[in-house]
Amino acid sequence: MADRAKIAVFISGGGTNMAAILYASRLPDSPFEIVLVASNTPDAAGLALAQLEGIPTYAHSHKGHSREVQDAAMEAAALDAGAQFIVLAGYMRILSEGFVKRWDKRILNIHPSLLPKYKGLDTFARAIEAGDSHAGASVHVVTAELDAGDVLAQAKVAIAPGDTPESLGGRVKLAEHQLYPRAIADYVSRGSDPGFLLAKVKGIALALPETHERESHGSLGFRVGTEKTGKYFAYFSDRHHGSEHISLLVKTSGMDELMNLVEGQPDVYYKPAFYGASGWVGLILNRPDFDWDHAAEWLERSWRAVAPKRLTKLTDAADMF
Ligand code: GAR
Repeated sequence: MADRAKIAVFISGGGTNMAAILYASRLPDSPFEIVLVASNTPDAAGLALAQLEGIPTYAHSHKGHSREVQDAAMEAAALDAGAQFIVLAGYMRILSEGFVKRWDKRILNIHPSLLPKYKGLDTFARAIEAGDSHAGASVHVVTAELDAGDVLAQAKVAIAPGDTPESLGGRVKLAEHQLYPRAIADYVSRGSDPGFLLAKVKGIALALPETHERESHGSLGFRVGTEKTGKYFAYFSDRHHGSEHISLLVKTSGMDELMNLVEGQPDVYYKPAFYGASGWVGLILNRPDFDWDHAAEWLERSWRAVAPKRLTKLTDAADMF
């Protein structure tokens, strides 16, 4: 199996979600492993469980110092453990902006409501009070704004007549234990998921002026110009022609540039079969930490190389302002 994604789990309390994630990580084919359980409360029950299960733990009380000091200590522990992702599981501290920025798109959280409803605390009481038919839990990407990042997955839990926050919360926990490990697995795997990568490429390519997609020899191509006279400026290649890569084929200025790229950065570029002969380079997409701005730059450059003058003139003019 490919290397598993390394995650650090931050907890403040019982750590039942941490336990669910831990036991899921030990099932065959789990795409992640826990390398650290860390807490801001040294006597958190979850730490003892992690120790019992042989997982490295770390505790640093948040009392008596700033948010930044607390975050720096937790971050150093996560880095020492080799974590690539941080998973918050009942970690009841707001993270500092710098920390969230440094781990952009690599921190996940679970929140006990159907976001965007009921951010913050007392979510069950608020859902019952409002007369909602359902409560639930959401897994989201952490951004600087509290409980506001992209929602990745949700589980709905029906509210029973006579539910109290405690009775409802107990059932939401059961749902969380199913939801969180699955959402983490999907998230850490998506960099090698062709469906996810293609959707990202489409989003960027088709946002360029006068573009459309067209199947070409078993790959999806992107063209600029009219349906009739348009020209290809990119192809999405999913391990095509025996390649192990999922890649984006874009146009270089010619063989010299292509060979420079491939020889200089073999982890980033390769020379694709057939297309390589006419100066197309493969930008490898299924890499950890792939930078989508880089793909966007290549797509724009490639688009510009084949787009009709009437279109490039317009974007040139726009660039001047
Ligand atoms: C979970 O229900 C989680 O959704 C909630 O804390 C609980 C932790 O339980 N998180 C938040 O409220 C975050 N704002 P656990 O320690 O048993 O996993």
